Amino acid sequence: MTPPEMQAHLNPIFERSGGWLPFDAFMAEALYAPGLGYYANALPKLGLMPQDGSDFVTGPELSPVFGRTLARQVAQALRLCEVDTVWEFGAGTGALAAQLIGCLLSDPERRLKHYVIVELSAELRHRQQALLAPLMGRVNVTWATEWPAHLAAVVVGNEVLDAMPARLLVRRNGEWLTRGVSRAVTTDSSDGPGWALTWSDRAMGEQPPVDIEGQHDYVFEWHQQAQAWVQQLAQRLDRGCILLLDYGFTEAEYYHPQRHMGTLMCHQSHRSDGNPLVAVGLKDITVHVDFTGVALAAQAQGLDVLGFTSQGRFLINCGFLDVLTSASSPEQAQALKLIHEHEMGELFKVIVLSHPRHTATVNAAGGYIGFQSFDRSHTL
Ligand SMILES: C[S@@+](CC[C@H](N)C(=O)[O-])C[C@H]1O[C@@H](n2cnc3c(N)ncnc32)[C@H](O)[C@@H]1O
Repeated sequence: MTPPEMQAHLNPIFERSGGWLPFDAFMAEALYAPGLGYYANALPKLGLMPQDGSDFVTGPELSPVFGRTLARQVAQALRLCEVDTVWEFGAGTGALAAQLIGCLLSDPERRLKHYVIVELSAELRHRQQALLAPLMGRVNVTWATEWPAHLAAVVVGNEVLDAMPARLLVRRNGEWLTRGVSRAVTTDSSDGPGWALTWSDRAMGEQPPVDIEGQHDYVFEWHQQAQAWVQQLAQRLDRGCILLLDYGFTEAEYYHPQRHMGTLMCHQSHRSDGNPLVAVGLKDITVHVDFTGVALAAQAQGLDVLGFTSQGRFLINCGFLDVLTSASSPEQAQALKLIHEHEMGELFKVIVLSHPRHTATVNAAGGYIGFQSFDRSHTL
């Protein structure tokens, strides 16, 4: 059931907007409304098992081998780009930051001097601060609420893009409509007495920027916010690169005519469902990432795409198997899920967007290590 506090928060928002919210505006409230949205409230969210109260697991939560392996790529990028700062966006519990900092501090070159986190959720920021407190004397860890005009850093974001609100368009009977959410008038609802939300589609003249073959009904996920975010980041990047890891596809796969239902999903207690309109604020809402859109947004600001591959290939290229040998047997079993194709190895992808000033140096070094074999940039 949607908590009464969330209902009370949403009611005036619906009133002010004439009773209808486009889906991206609704998703922003459901995930980030201060204190109430899924990422902003005190629920556990990320973790290994439903028994710990969590809803889903991410790479760094699944196994520290994730961050230890990624650290090898970050160390190489710090060196090749001659920077001493990592910026992590959307750091969750802080698990990845702890893994990366731990490894980068024991790197023989010890390049890392500053680790900056940008986190939308105040609740998660507090968790990150508590987890990273023991490392703070060893490296300068700070939290930024604003982006600098000029950025010289290796930027990391794991499963951040999928948590950014997406706009939904639907094609019905050959016509494109903007999908939104309305309050339903009801006395009998499973989502709370007198409270229910329904899908509601409006003709607003919006068309998908990508041609979708056929006339059949289709749900189109438009990642305007995620792409604008990449563009703004790319604009500010003066030196360094951006490493983004997430589940998703190239445009050709994402918007294949047969994928007509989109990828919108909710997570609660390690189960997924397709209904974001109930239990608002109590479950995660997410969409897969369109990596072609990400690449184009970065290229439009002059960055080079120097690698795109699956998470499995990326981690193996970075030396996953080496790192694995130092883990215990139960840890190894968990960590293998990061690369197995039927778990996180294939659906999850990694892209590196690099400032062009480094391209010759990176190429002379044989490329960024995570993409030295099975690079799929040509498929974007
Ligand atoms: C699915 S969680 C991933 C957490 C963590 N990176 C991990 O892998 O465990 C998404 C995270 O991104 C944060 N987030 C979403 N949009 C963001 C943005 N625009 N800037 C910074 N953080 C953001 C959320 O608050 C949350 O911490």
